[in-house]
Amino acid sequence: MARSSLQLNSEWIPKVEESLATQQLSQRTIAERLEISRSSVSKFINCKPVALNTFIRLCQELNIDWNGASQPEREWNDNIESFKFKQDEFKANPGGQISPAEIVGRDDLIEELWNRLRQQSFIFSGERRIGKSSTLKKMTANPPEDMLPIYRDLEGIRSPLEFVEGIWQDTETYLREEGKARRVREFISELTGSYFTAYQFPEIAEEHWKTLLTKTIEDVITLQNQQIVFIWDEMPHMLGNFSDETAMEVLDSLRSLRQTYPDIRMVFSGSIGLHHIIKNLQSAGYSNDPTNDMYPIDGQPLHLEDAVELTINLLEGEGVSVANLQETAEEIALAVDSIPFYIHHLVNQLKDYPEEINRDAILNIVNESLRNPLNLWKMDHYRERIDNYYSDVQKPYALEILDILSINPPTPFQRLWQYLKSEPHTTDKETARTVLRLLMKDYYLIQEDNLSGSVYSFRYQLVQKYWRISRGL
Ligand SMILES: Nc1ncnc2c1ncn2[C@@H]1O[C@H](COP(=O)(O)OP(=O)(O)O)[C@@H](O)[C@H]1O
Ligand SMILES: [Mg+2]
Repeated sequence: MARSSLQLNSEWIPKVEESLATQQLSQRTIAERLEISRSSVSKFINCKPVALNTFIRLCQELNIDWNGASQPEREWNDNIESFKFKQDEFKANPGGQISPAEIVGRDDLIEELWNRLRQQSFIFSGERRIGKSSTLKKMTANPPEDMLPIYRDLEGIRSPLEFVEGIWQDTETYLREEGKARRVREFISELTGSYFTAYQFPEIAEEHWKTLLTKTIEDVITLQNQQIVFIWDEMPHMLGNFSDETAMEVLDSLRSLRQTYPDIRMVFSGSIGLHHIIKNLQSAGYSNDPTNDMYPIDGQPLHLEDAVELTINLLEGEGVSVANLQETAEEIALAVDSIPFYIHHLVNQLKDYPEEINRDAILNIVNESLRNPLNLWKMDHYRERIDNYYSDVQKPYALEILDILSINPPTPFQRLWQYLKSEPHTTDKETARTVLRLLMKDYYLIQEDNLSGSVYSFRYQLVQKYWRISRGL
């Protein structure tokens, strides 16, 4: 049955409130911006049903996942597929949902990713907000004929059954049309003793998630004319929600499915390096490498020319007037290392800039934003990740190394070591090396060769600047 309205799940109210606060939006301003009535906004916030399109647009504006935020009774919904994204012209919308047409560049990367998928599954990792999800959504919106990408954000998923249910719901649309969705429904019918017609698994299915996963895949491979590609975004996040044992079982099951059904492709994406999750699993006794058959791909910022194109689109879309569009756009792009998320932020802040927009103005806004204790540019995860994912022994090394590099030019290991060994908690040379490698895996640092030999430096000057400012150095 198609649904024409959705309700907010009350568990999401804090997220909605947080988003309104950080974006400094009132119910009135958001209503005006979306050209909807204030009573729709108030119904939305009070978890009353609102029109499907309104619900989705509100969630987009608030930068929350509408699919997760709607009430869990997700009945099958034909309206969703025909729903059109809200904007045709470019608006600065930092972190918000943007339509595939507004995702600039990435064409080479996308082609490379499709070619890779013709060979094997891959892991797409990269710093937070570098543009991974946008790339994957652009791929999903416009696949080549031989590919059937099925995208799902796994962030809020709390149990393997919920994960399998999501996969199954995603495939059901395609299978239903072909009249092929049989095995899963038959299996659940046997479990419950009555014919299963719903779109949510009954509780009794909990302990059978592995069987249901296999049957879902077996149903899917009956679609033989296209390569099925499961794109699972925020995979490490989901695994982090599971117990170690469950996470291992999920990773093992997925690998065994890739081996049994070589026509299925999987994409794992996410910002918490899978290496942290797997390292925890290994210290809990897990000895497999469950992703060694998947190709690692490292998400990068935009190419400079694409970053400039995006900046020009946004400046024009927002009606920001500057003396020399090309030059200003280049300065903006360079000031934020061509990372699209910060380009959106900068343009958004430039909208209301009272003076002439020149290089100094741009750098001022960058510095102000990095200094801002409200974490406007959401950079605090660079600091928090050290607390959350580095061991007590590794922490002082990580902080010390980043502190040193934030105020020095690219530095060779020997020089770093001189600093480290003079501090009381960083006196083991091998630990220093291990932590340096970890900091590279976590996108803080790069290692390059220059005239002084092999040197370490921050990967992004923006992060270096953030680190220096936030640490008071
Ligand atoms: N290619 C792009 N063109 C325009 N905007 C982009 C592009 N890539 C990312 N963005 C902007 O940056 C934000 C963060 O990107 P996202 O893809 O969610 O990053 P990630 O998944 O790596 O954390 C998006 O909400 C969007 O506003
Ligand atoms: Mg993402």
